[in-house]
Amino acid sequence: MTAQRIDGNALSHQLRAQVAADTAVLKAQGLTPGLAVVLVGDNPASQVYVRNKVKACQDAGLHSVLEKYEATMSEADLLARVESLNNDPQIHGILVQLPLPAHIDAQKVIEAINPAKDVDGFHIASAGALMTGMPGFWPCTPYGCMKMLESIGYNLSGKHAVVIGRSNIVGKPMALMLLQQNATVTICHSATTDLKAHTLQADVIVAAVGKRNVLTADMVKPGAVVLDVGMNRNDEGKLCGDVDFEGVSQVASFITPVPGGVGPMTITMLLVNTLESAKRALSAQL
Ligand code: GUN
Repeated sequence: MTAQRIDGNALSHQLRAQVAADTAVLKAQGLTPGLAVVLVGDNPASQVYVRNKVKACQDAGLHSVLEKYEATMSEADLLARVESLNNDPQIHGILVQLPLPAHIDAQKVIEAINPAKDVDGFHIASAGALMTGMPGFWPCTPYGCMKMLESIGYNLSGKHAVVIGRSNIVGKPMALMLLQQNATVTICHSATTDLKAHTLQADVIVAAVGKRNVLTADMVKPGAVVLDVGMNRNDEGKLCGDVDFEGVSQVASFITPVPGGVGPMTITMLLVNTLESAKRALSAQL
């Protein structure tokens, strides 16, 4: 079997066009969706990420502001900036780029964001909403994975999904989203004794570990759907995921490549969440 690729660039293009169209409608009603991106310090990877987020907003017609601060910024000053953005009616989404400098308590900063503007979905109120099936914002990367499954018309009901990784940002919310669609979900992690025994049972596998070749062809049931959230470098310095793409492609029915798979979907879902936040703000006004 040669797996079909799920093209994250093409799906992102389609979803961002829809965001742009919906944004134009909102603008005609007098409301421009707005995202504030806050970067503290000069982490090179973070600088690239925030630039891409702001550019994606501009391309889709959203208002965006990028606030950059020195690494020496105090926690109190950052909390004050968040509070000011909470009260800014032009801002519907607030994203504080992580990691933050060590002297700042990242969780405290995240909890200072108004959950109604938590488009990253990292606030405990957002996590609680996801867990209980209440309205809230879903973290962008696992939300993007769900959109990829939707794009191939995959019905998760009764299927066995195995998530490898248990982070608050990807693994845990991913498991809850799959559960909400009636999958039977297993979460594997660094202390799992026999990973292969679990993955061989899976109809859907999401690899979100951050380590190359966590999933190889011998670990995959023929016809399984494989989503690769990993972002690593191989020995030649080329971007690669957690999955042995060449090998697993021979066994799986669908697979996401790296690059061009889940990666572009993360920013796309940030736009979707920001637009949704603006829509909620507008209906609260009416
Ligand atoms: N750092 C790496 N990815 C992310 C993300 O999705 N959101 C935030 N806030 N920081 C990040």
